[in-house]
Amino acid sequence: MKQSKYKQVMNLITAKITGGEWTIGSQIPSQRELAKLFQVNRSTIITAIEELKADGLLVSHVGKGTIVANNTWSLMKVDKPINWSGNITLGMHKESMKTVKMINELEAKEELIQLGKSELSPDLFPKAAFQNIVQNVSSTFYSLGYEEPKGNLKLRETICHQLKSKGIQASPSSVLIVSGALQALQLISIGLLNKGSTVYVERPSYVLSLSIFQSGGMKLATIPADLEGPIPKGMKDLHNTKAHSVLYTIPTFHNPTGYVMSERRREHLMQLCEDEQIPIIEDDVYGDLWIDEKPPKPLKASDTYGNVLYVGSLSKTLAPGLRIGWVVGPESVIDRLADLKMQTDYGSSSLSQHVAAEWLKSENYELHLAKVRQELKVRRDMTLNALSKHLSTVAEWEVPKGGFFIWLKFLPPIQNKHLFEKALTAGILINPGNIYDKHSTQYIRLSYGFAAYEEIEAGIRKLGEMLKNI
Ligand SMILES: Cc1ncc(COP(=O)(O)O)c(C=O)c1O
Repeated sequence: MKQSKYKQVMNLITAKITGGEWTIGSQIPSQRELAKLFQVNRSTIITAIEELKADGLLVSHVGKGTIVANNTWSLMKVDKPINWSGNITLGMHKESMKTVKMINELEAKEELIQLGKSELSPDLFPKAAFQNIVQNVSSTFYSLGYEEPKGNLKLRETICHQLKSKGIQASPSSVLIVSGALQALQLISIGLLNKGSTVYVERPSYVLSLSIFQSGGMKLATIPADLEGPIPKGMKDLHNTKAHSVLYTIPTFHNPTGYVMSERRREHLMQLCEDEQIPIIEDDVYGDLWIDEKPPKPLKASDTYGNVLYVGSLSKTLAPGLRIGWVVGPESVIDRLADLKMQTDYGSSSLSQHVAAEWLKSENYELHLAKVRQELKVRRDMTLNALSKHLSTVAEWEVPKGGFFIWLKFLPPIQNKHLFEKALTAGILINPGNIYDKHSTQYIRLSYGFAAYEEIEAGIRKLGEMLKNI
């Protein structure tokens, strides 16, 4: 005889609990999410939950949702089962902000218009050329062992060669391959800084949406800025010469503002950091994505004293899924980071490293970048048109010269959280400004890199309509 629907749902929920996926003390998804997950209506979910509560597996608390109270093993056992919720809050690393966690989940949803995603559209993935490279690489393998501590030598040599065109002189021994630029920041945080170190950052900044530095007990100090970038005098005034400090900066096509630090400002900042002995972490993951003209050279290009740790990645120009990035700096620092990397994961995927080396060496690399730049120009211009048409009375913005982002400032006071939720209900995912700086509640970060043209136009039109009613 066929089981009733709510019984089937009870079994599915029980399986999640007894299988250890939903542990004791953890909150189960909302009724709406469960209905979607199990493809039934909400009344079926409510009946199943009530039955499981009667069986003692679940319990509901006002304000806390429905929690796993027991698993069937624990009902049979006399000993108390482990309550993982205690451990979950124990680890040293801080939790992400709630909105950031939500965005991380929602970015995988194809049904949403992705107006915040910092990734190139799948239409810009060079499918044929890339498949060719993967095929060629696959025929060269006899085995896949661990790579050297600093990463695949061929890849490091190729990166050094590419860096020359940006004015950066580096040898393979001063390059470490990492699993994306993010891992470089993580390794720097755990290897080169300590509790009490100060990290100077632009305000707003990508790094403020993460807990990388904060988790290690480092203080983040935001530098006053003007249109040319962070103001060196402002940083000097903040500087405590006794504490160990570093500057983290994204000088080119900044995330989230899209700004480019002026050449003059780069020189002044380099000089100040040299005088004050402040090391610099230069995050240049967007540097190749110029639209109108080549940006000024990276800070690293004028670094004659080894003050700058330069971070790059293939995530923004090719494919974040490869998880390939690099950090370039003085050999002693790279040795230290390489040792930590070995202790962390014993090296990035060897397969990805081989593919990345072939990609960067091939003529496709420059051809692809040229195509991406052209496409980003079209996307940026059509987004600016849509903004002028639908949002010009309620928002203002600067025209980005490259990268993916427009930092949109709303003129009437809006509740950022409100707009984020309202947009989500209308099927649009935006990145609210307060995840990059708690004071940026009047801003959102728009990305023109990912969504389809029609989606960008429709998303901005809908945002315009929404703002009239907020
Ligand atoms: C400024 C900046 N740095 C680093 C990263 C992380 O890049 P990866 O995918 O290489 O870890 C991002 C991704 O959004 C970014 O915007």
